[in-house]
Amino acid sequence: MARETWATRAGFILAAVGSAVGLGNIWRFPFITGQYGGSSFLITYLAFVALIGFPAILVEFVIGRRTDRNPVGALRELGSGAWSYVGWLFVVTGFIILSYYSVVAGWFLRYTLIGLTEGFTITDPAEASALFGTVSTGLDTLLFHAVFMTLVIGIIAAGVRRGIELSVKVMVPAILLLLLGLAVYGFTLDGASAAYSYYLSPDFGTIAANWTEILPAAAGQAFFTLSLGMGVMITYASYLGEDRNLASDAGIIAALDTLVAVLVGFVVFPVLFTVGIEPGTGGPGAIFVSLTSAFAGIPGGRAIGVVFFGMVGIAALSSAISILEVLVSYLIDEVGVARIPASVALGVAVFLLGVPVTIDLIFLDLYDLLADGILLVLGSLLLSLFVGWVIPDIAREELRKGIADIGGLGDAWIWAVRIPIVIVVVVSLYLGIVDYADFLTGSFADWLAAR
Ligand code: PFF
Repeated sequence: MARETWATRAGFILAAVGSAVGLGNIWRFPFITGQYGGSSFLITYLAFVALIGFPAILVEFVIGRRTDRNPVGALRELGSGAWSYVGWLFVVTGFIILSYYSVVAGWFLRYTLIGLTEGFTITDPAEASALFGTVSTGLDTLLFHAVFMTLVIGIIAAGVRRGIELSVKVMVPAILLLLLGLAVYGFTLDGASAAYSYYLSPDFGTIAANWTEILPAAAGQAFFTLSLGMGVMITYASYLGEDRNLASDAGIIAALDTLVAVLVGFVVFPVLFTVGIEPGTGGPGAIFVSLTSAFAGIPGGRAIGVVFFGMVGIAALSSAISILEVLVSYLIDEVGVARIPASVALGVAVFLLGVPVTIDLIFLDLYDLLADGILLVLGSLLLSLFVGWVIPDIAREELRKGIADIGGLGDAWIWAVRIPIVIVVVVSLYLGIVDYADFLTGSFADWLAAR
């Protein structure tokens, strides 16, 4: 059977933007921006997206379009020896990331439902934390994880055009419109001006004093938010025709993803400043605890809360489908399994891997610190080394297709991939490993000892 392709250019771009825009932009971004000092983090992150993220998207695009294969097959075709096994890393990473991503997405579905049925009435932070406790673990959490994975499986089983492309054409514009509306609302709040100055006036002294923390955090966020390091962009580009200008598509994708992250700050920070909550405090539950109490205290908070949490649910769905597609494309291309059984079997396996996360949040850290802190970064490192040093000529030639006048872009890109990206990624990888070792010997060892 002929391999599937995108029906339209917009379909491909929206699918890639849908993958990029997700929990990373809405849940993780305001939280780490708060943690690393607001505007100082923002400006560093913007620089990383342009200098590192954009060339790294092209790395995955050229591999995918060149081979028309899933990531495992693509690396086997282009690489020899150990390189031909690198695609396997992506399959492992995809399983782990999607398993907890779905559980967290389920929390957002649950909060949307709470807003619809009961409204947000809790203003006391301790009570809001208790609510988060009941949402984040237990049987109901498992149920919402199952509902979310069922949606993901349904879309992927329907195929590239009828599933992914059709759904992102609805989801991505919806996310953008809802977010714009919310940002306008944020502007009307009392805390808006304090929030804008916190968010928009960078303090270079803060960056200089804390660069060892700010730089790796910004680099990690740039890779995660652009869905890099596990073959999503390889897979999506493998459904592309030869005539597309990959550089302009990558630019649009990076720009839209960044626009969304920046807009989220224009929603979350005014809301928090209006009710006097310090941004960036507390762990993964922070945004839930602070926002639910904030929604209880601002005018129209219930409707705003429902729209906000619902929008996050949609954004998470358009990202989650891209991860399952990496796994499914492998089974279809390499093993010859049909799309529907492949989607169901892999989706159920991912669901099962996520079950521990619904029981104890320690598993969220166990999975996230490994996948996001180490595996995604390792994936980006290996892909950059591969394209920059092993197949630079093929890569340059592939980039040139569909670009009328490439000028010096091809060479500049290869050099960006060869050295700066590799340096940034090696430093991030080192820090990710140190963090994970600390976690395994610290909190996780304590948790095991207490069993
Ligand atoms: N880019 C997604 C987000 O920002 O939420 C997360 C993600 C999706 C990461 C797909 C990696 C990936 F392969």
